[in-house]
Amino acid sequence: MGRKKITVVGAGNVGATAAHWAAEKELGDVVLVDIIEGMPQGKALDLMEARPVEGFDVSITGTNGYEETAGSDVVIITSGLPRKPGMSRDDLLQKNKEIVASVTKAVVKNSPDCIIIVVSNPLDTMSYVAKAVSGFPKNRVMGMAGVLDTARFKVFVAMELNVSVEDVQALVLGGHGDSMVPLIRYSTVAGIPITELIAEDRIKAVVARTRKAGGEIVSLLKTGSAFYSPSASGVQMAEAILKDKKRILPCAAYLEGEYDLNDIFFGVPVILGANGIEKIIEVSLTEEEKAAVQQSAVEVKQSIQSLNV
Ligand SMILES: NC(=O)c1ccc[n+]([C@@H]2O[C@H](COP(=O)([O-])OP(=O)(O)OC[C@H]3O[C@@H](n4cnc5c(N)ncnc54)[C@H](O)[C@@H]3O)[C@@H](O)[C@H]2O)c1
Repeated sequence: MGRKKITVVGAGNVGATAAHWAAEKELGDVVLVDIIEGMPQGKALDLMEARPVEGFDVSITGTNGYEETAGSDVVIITSGLPRKPGMSRDDLLQKNKEIVASVTKAVVKNSPDCIIIVVSNPLDTMSYVAKAVSGFPKNRVMGMAGVLDTARFKVFVAMELNVSVEDVQALVLGGHGDSMVPLIRYSTVAGIPITELIAEDRIKAVVARTRKAGGEIVSLLKTGSAFYSPSASGVQMAEAILKDKKRILPCAAYLEGEYDLNDIFFGVPVILGANGIEKIIEVSLTEEEKAAVQQSAVEVKQSIQSLNV
């Protein structure tokens, strides 16, 4: 029985850190791909040399090609340009479309049975590109955004109450952008609705900070964008698939009628297991939440349509 194999395309901040988390968790052998000569090889070798210290036994390979990626079980696509201060996610659209399309072609050629997790921004649109180019069924292509958006929301709730992040449960729906829809009614701390614990104006402040959380980090870093939490989020999805955990996680999934949306990648709760997205869970929404979801979807649709995929 062989080990599982995870390919991470793009060995920049998000990609290299994803390789780090995946190797440390011993999810499988990791292949790191980038176009910059020597860089993925150097990072992979450096990670290999951390193994005796941290005690993980998987192999990490760096490459500028795709031969080494053959037979991957999960492929995480992080290649692209990161957002710079003052740059909107949609500014990245055209350039990243070309990158994600070419990478997806090469991935699929070498790993026709893999499951693809897209991280490159703008997330919902790049997931759409990957699905269109791969020709994969909808259960095998997904985007990472909801896990990160939800993690950020959980952190801000925990900070507000000075309690453990482990006790916070939350759900964020919608596109990966300022129009995301944190669902307050479905957010609890140790089973207690957050509305019982946090005043309304403070909940509003937590929601506002969650919406702008990516930008908050961009403006602090000045060069580049968040990578520890995005890579951890992508790897959590990979782990759910590789270990067939049947976790319920919010992911960008291809919708065909769910939430009254069609032909769009959109953040919704799904069951993630060995077959990728095994089920899309539809939760009931209030009229106000439905309107927020539809508004978020309009923004994602516009972005997808502008690309003529
Ligand atoms: N979905 C999310 O929540 C989320 C969060 C953070 C970052 N991101 C996105 O992830 C992507 C990566 O971010 P980062 O901070 O790691 O950027 P980065 O610049 O550090 O890394 C990107 C890497 O992609 C490589 N690359 C470019 N074209 C390539 C190609 N054709 N083939 C292989 N590699 C290629 C670059 O050489 C670079 O090393 C960006 O699009 C960013 O916006 C998404």
